[in-house]
Amino acid sequence: MTVLTDTERLAHLDLEQLRQLVGLVEYDASQDPFPVTGWDAVVWAVGNAVQSTHFFRTAFGMELVAYSGPETGNRDHHAFVLESGAVRFVIKGGVHPDSPVIAHHAHHGDGVLDIALEVPDVDRCIEHARAQGATVLEEPHDVSDEHGTVRIGAIATYGETRHTLVDRSRYQGPYLPGYVARTDELAGRTQVFQALDHVVGNVELGHMDEWVEFYGRVMGFTNMAEFIGDDIATDYSALMSKVVASGNHRVKFPLNEPAIAKKKSQIDEYLEFYRGPGAQHLALATEDILASVDHLREMGIQFLDTPDSYYEDPELRARIGEVRVPVEELQKRGILVDRDEDGYLLQIFTKPIGDRPTVFFELIERHGSLGFGKGNFKALFEAIEREQDRRGNL
Ligand SMILES: [Fe+2]
Repeated sequence: MTVLTDTERLAHLDLEQLRQLVGLVEYDASQDPFPVTGWDAVVWAVGNAVQSTHFFRTAFGMELVAYSGPETGNRDHHAFVLESGAVRFVIKGGVHPDSPVIAHHAHHGDGVLDIALEVPDVDRCIEHARAQGATVLEEPHDVSDEHGTVRIGAIATYGETRHTLVDRSRYQGPYLPGYVARTDELAGRTQVFQALDHVVGNVELGHMDEWVEFYGRVMGFTNMAEFIGDDIATDYSALMSKVVASGNHRVKFPLNEPAIAKKKSQIDEYLEFYRGPGAQHLALATEDILASVDHLREMGIQFLDTPDSYYEDPELRARIGEVRVPVEELQKRGILVDRDEDGYLLQIFTKPIGDRPTVFFELIERHGSLGFGKGNFKALFEAIEREQDRRGNL
């Protein structure tokens, strides 16, 4: 039986909302060799955590809830814990010049260090992962403070990205031992998103299937139907994509590799500027994508442009069918639509949020569709390519 996580309950979400927001499904965890409850946190390494935190709070409406840094005895780096709905980000920036966070940032630029997952049994997961040949980065161990005990372990995934596995069932503190609660005094916050839908990984040419297999073998993830193959590659800067998901579908990982095309693939551009595989985009689930986009634009967030032709194409209009708002409202905001046999989804992509053309966000509003916007890839490629061309990387 799928139940709410503590974070979801505290965010006042219910199961019906989550089914709608992120396509949550029922499944039998007793047969799962590596049960995953859901996301725990997305941990970022950035060049300036003080300012990035401000950006996530003011523009993306996230709330500061906890902190670790020199004032709390951590002389290595700042870490700000932010929440929005059921989503937790931890923003790390090096303080000491020898901090590993600074080294990571020098190599990769702003990006995701760790896609931490909540699991009911850390030891069982690590044991299974090791038996299946995964690299164990941290053996299971307890960390405690006056709020209780957290059990933690970690395994490596693509590039220098890791999955920390966290069991916080015996812990009442704001995040982890070593962090202190921080209340946010920012006035007039607008919540932009309620849940994390998926995190996309970019891997090198020829390695996508290896990572699909890794998530199946090591973490018991299953393949979701949608994949992008040669049929979409053709003239556009191309990628191949397959999607794996945890049993309850809370955690979904599309995995991309570049495909051979006439022009340089957007995945190649990422791999060059991130210096290897890493997290490409995070899809933030919203209950009202129009309001979210309006707010983000007002706050100066830039989105990829969608050509007017996208909305005027009669074939596309016929495929889209009826959606909850007039197509003109979507066109005004550049929001894309995709439909499959289960329903439809609305989505839009931001421009890269850091200095390098690497990580960016998607906003997604699902209405039954469990897809990822396959039908929009061509329209999306054209928009991305215009940007790539402006940067001289095409
Ligand atoms: Fe996506």
